[in-house]
Amino acid sequence: PRHWAVVPAAGAGRRFGGPVPKQYLELCGRCVIEHSLATLLEHPAIDGCVLALSAEDEWWAETVYASHPAVQRVAGGTERSDSVANALEALSEYADEHDWVLVHDAARPCLTRFDLDRLIAALGDGSAGALLAVQVHDTVKVADAASGDRVLRTVPREQLWRAYTPQAFPLGTLRRALARARDQGSAITDDASAIEQLGLRPLLVSGRSDNLKITRPEDLPLAQFFLEQQQE
Ligand code: CTP
Ligand code: MG
Repeated sequence: PRHWAVVPAAGAGRRFGGPVPKQYLELCGRCVIEHSLATLLEHPAIDGCVLALSAEDEWWAETVYASHPAVQRVAGGTERSDSVANALEALSEYADEHDWVLVHDAARPCLTRFDLDRLIAALGDGSAGALLAVQVHDTVKVADAASGDRVLRTVPREQLWRAYTPQAFPLGTLRRALARARDQGSAITDDASAIEQLGLRPLLVSGRSDNLKITRPEDLPLAQFFLEQQQE
């Protein structure tokens, strides 16, 4: 099977704020999404990329990949999962349902070749897919729902992982999973959640913790630091 990248980049970045969506902010001489795409497009196992963009997007055309032959653009949707579903629909025109789809947030510019290699190497035949993830090292508290800030209990952290991207699944399986999640009205924040709801159990691939998602303004200087470290 072949490997395709799907990059949801249609978000407005409300938590980050500001007039320009976070995926287009400058970072070490390029913009965030250019970094996120570079690792994917430079990997020899990746055959192409489908990118979901907002209808209001006026920045993509200015990027270095604007007319890259391996990048197909589709319209984003209301939620991240809708953007991914749109990309998968376009991909289904030419890809096989057994091909691997690697979904990667445009807002994760510090993905390394090392992690991408590890994820791809973890994909076996007929598997439920795999995702990059990082084990939780902090002690985790659950707050009581009514107060919002009063500790209810402490969760054992040995089995807890933070879900990162890329997350890789067979195209057909992910399409079915997202369609079912949409039908059931379940709010999902990553693709693995939809797969899990089918009763499948994706593999956690221990990744680098510097593959952060830029969510709030303080994440941008962190990403800059990590990229500078990686380039040394
Ligand atoms: N995304 C998307 N379509 C949406 C929402 C999000 O393609 N309708 C993308 C974002 O562009 C980002 C990734 O999904 O690359 C992860 O989403 P998130 O970090 O939540 O980004 P935003 O939705 O843009 O930010 P916020 O939730 O703060 O508004
Ligand atoms: Mg969001």
